[in-house]
Amino acid sequence: MLWWSDELKIGVDTIDEQHKGIFDKAEDILNLEADSKPFAVKKMYQFLLNYVATHFKDEEKVMEGIGYPDLEEHKKQHIYITNELGKLVDKTIKEGITEENIDALKLLVIEWLINHISESDKKIAVFINEKKSG
Ligand SMILES: [Fe+2]
Ligand SMILES: [Fe+2]
Repeated sequence: MLWWSDELKIGVDTIDEQHKGIFDKAEDILNLEADSKPFAVKKMYQFLLNYVATHFKDEEKVMEGIGYPDLEEHKKQHIYITNELGKLVDKTIKEGITEENIDALKLLVIEWLINHISESDKKIAVFINEKKSG
């Protein structure tokens, strides 16, 4: 899903705030166009690069702390997203802000929200709840 809802909370405030943060940015990202102000596009890339660096590290710490069984597989997905974003930044630096590059960015973020946050991150919440109910 492309909007934030409490159902997506994993119950760890920092992580939930970070997740809400990327959902809040989604609309701005989807509104980017090849002729958007280069400054706005650059700012968005900077936000995303910062975001993946902090958020993935914080989330992995949480998973380590609770003994999350699928940590390694989950980390691979984080590496994938980080790498794809990095490749896109390099491509945009080389080629400029093209429609193709903007579309690729949108697709990456949509996949991230739908397949990663709404599926893989959600599984962390399921694990935490199972643990609580013993
Ligand atoms: Fe996450
Ligand atoms: Fe994650």
